[in-house]
Amino acid sequence: MEKRVDDARGRLTKDGIRIYDSADFAGMHAAGRVAADILDKMAAHVFPGQTTGEIDRIITDLVNEAGVISATIGYKGYQHASCISVNHVVCHGIPGPKQLKDGDILNIDVTVIVDGWFGDSSRMYVAGKLGRKAERLIQVTHDALMKGIEVVRPGKTFGDIGHAIQAYVEAHRMSVVRDFCGHGLGRVFHAAPNVLHYGRPGTGAVLEEGMFFTIEPMVNLGRPETKTLADDWTAVTRDKSLSAQFEHSIGVTKDGCEIFTLSPAGRFHPTYDAD
Ligand code: MF3
Ligand code: CO
Ligand code: CO
Repeated sequence: MEKRVDDARGRLTKDGIRIYDSADFAGMHAAGRVAADILDKMAAHVFPGQTTGEIDRIITDLVNEAGVISATIGYKGYQHASCISVNHVVCHGIPGPKQLKDGDILNIDVTVIVDGWFGDSSRMYVAGKLGRKAERLIQVTHDALMKGIEVVRPGKTFGDIGHAIQAYVEAHRMSVVRDFCGHGLGRVFHAAPNVLHYGRPGTGAVLEEGMFFTIEPMVNLGRPETKTLADDWTAVTRDKSLSAQFEHSIGVTKDGCEIFTLSPAGRFHPTYDAD
């Protein structure tokens, strides 16, 4: 008997990128909404004195209450329902007992699996009062993600997306991290292509309707280089400069794209502007 592999739906392009059906968009919207809902709820739990471990515990509870699965617990040995990256941590910060201080900025990244579909999103938060430089960094990073998303439509290339992000960030005298990228997703967490947040127009694979992927630029106030700490996860800026990141999961449509991880409460935009 032939066993149907769970992610073997649609077809693959010559670049190995899976093309999903129009019916699959509903599954991604459901998964993206759960991730976005959890991120919406976290704004109230970020304050000076709070620990990142406690934030992750709350996220774990919300994942369980929603009756869905955390994609990160058990992923390559990772043991938490979120990555929480504070100040000069670029990504993959491990939640722990360290208390947030007034003015700390942090990215919370949550990925859930809902009926087999992956929803992956991250946003920035601030503990207490936001400093001027951090505010600028967060705004530019958010807007860079949106510049990348604006490019997305069939016929454009992944290089077009990367170029739009890089040009915007560098025009603001900040730098794009090269060591990490976005990724295809759908019935799997990380699939082709690598979605680079820098690049040249017209290069890379051509976008087609039915592609699902993340865009998740990491932007540094200083230089782009990173290093990974001895825990094998935590990536930090080499020059200790502040870093920010925003991530959406999206799907390419006939004439643009749909964002799966939009904030139901309108809080995706930097939280200091939300309420
Ligand atoms: N959510 C991250 C991403 O955007 C991946 C986290 S993997 C983990 O791709 F194991 F560190 F959680
Ligand atoms: Co991702
Ligand atoms: Co993520």
